[in-house]
Amino acid sequence: MAHYRKVGRVPTKRHTRFDNGSGGIFYEELMGEEGFSSDSSLLYHRHIPAAISEVSEWMLPDQALVANSPLLPRHYRLPALFESASVATTDVVKGRRLILGNGDVRISYVVAGAISSLYRNAIGDELVYVESGQGVVETSFGVLPFTTGDYVVIPRATPHRWVPDGEVCCYIVEATGHVAPPKRYLSRYGQLLEHAPFCERDLHAPDEPLLVEETEVELLVKHRGPGNTITGTAWVLPHHPFDVVGWDGCLYPYTFNISDFEPITGRIHQPPPAHQVFEGHGFVICNFVPRKVDYHPMAIPVPYYHSNVDSDEVMFYCGGDYEARKGSGITQGSVSLHPGGHTHGPQPGAMERSIGVDFFDELAVMVDTFAPLLVGEGALASEDDSYYRSWSRGTSS
Ligand SMILES: [Fe+2]
Repeated sequence: MAHYRKVGRVPTKRHTRFDNGSGGIFYEELMGEEGFSSDSSLLYHRHIPAAISEVSEWMLPDQALVANSPLLPRHYRLPALFESASVATTDVVKGRRLILGNGDVRISYVVAGAISSLYRNAIGDELVYVESGQGVVETSFGVLPFTTGDYVVIPRATPHRWVPDGEVCCYIVEATGHVAPPKRYLSRYGQLLEHAPFCERDLHAPDEPLLVEETEVELLVKHRGPGNTITGTAWVLPHHPFDVVGWDGCLYPYTFNISDFEPITGRIHQPPPAHQVFEGHGFVICNFVPRKVDYHPMAIPVPYYHSNVDSDEVMFYCGGDYEARKGSGITQGSVSLHPGGHTHGPQPGAMERSIGVDFFDELAVMVDTFAPLLVGEGALASEDDSYYRSWSRGTSS
């Protein structure tokens, strides 16, 4: 996010005395990526941001991952993981259930209605796709309203909490490192280029500070454990972390709504890179949105069979009726995992049905990883174990 933003009060000159009006000063914090060599922001706190009063262990929900073995394409029905009776007491931070993951990225899902704890992910950026629902995310940078279809991008180590307004369904991508628009969409100075399917106007960030005066406040921190494991620590802070009177810079949380993604279409099939929206280390994120499809007179609009020999592909089906998967059992809230080593593509009959069709009403978020994905407890608990046979149920020619 190389787009400068200023919110609240900041001193005229960085790294200089900033009087708080009560005989003291505000405390400057530089929050920056890649060791002072990438995007950063300067935040001005009422209290010392390093202060910790107490510490204890935060026991995370099950983070175990097992191999996709035997190697198979998989289908998970995520809505089956949450009972409506428990939604009011489930929150987006502690209630998420791990679906898939590797050393670069972890994907989880939650249906929640409760306000979350204060939380900081010290491993990487979080990109939360809001499948349905609305509310706000309160952060140390200010308040971020969210609604159905938003990607909520929260930089690594940002203190925040989720405040849903009713039930929300969230598909959560936790990076090891950072998430940003693809480099090929950016000018050499970081502006989104004309050929990018979205622009700066489509990104929404806090526009005023959020100040809370409270003492002895718990903050949950997710961080690295021994041997690359994921673990948690609970700190009690002497003052609430929402004490920032102003900040400026190029690093901050923001939202982008999937309906603002302008699809790139063509005479013949457009491959996934045309649908890319974000990238992280070791993975990319694409979205398939309602769109006019291929207009060559002989075009087959659904994809050809493909073997992405270097990738595992995860599709989250979050709206419409995904054209190429019709007949497979996949529906709203489903996730498919198509691992490297398997050739995948349309379900039987989908190619033939798509000929002459000029519009697809489908909405899906795809994560392609470059290291194999392992399977979490949420996947094991929601699997449709007949999916791998869905291609062999059809005809051949
Ligand atoms: Fe694919």
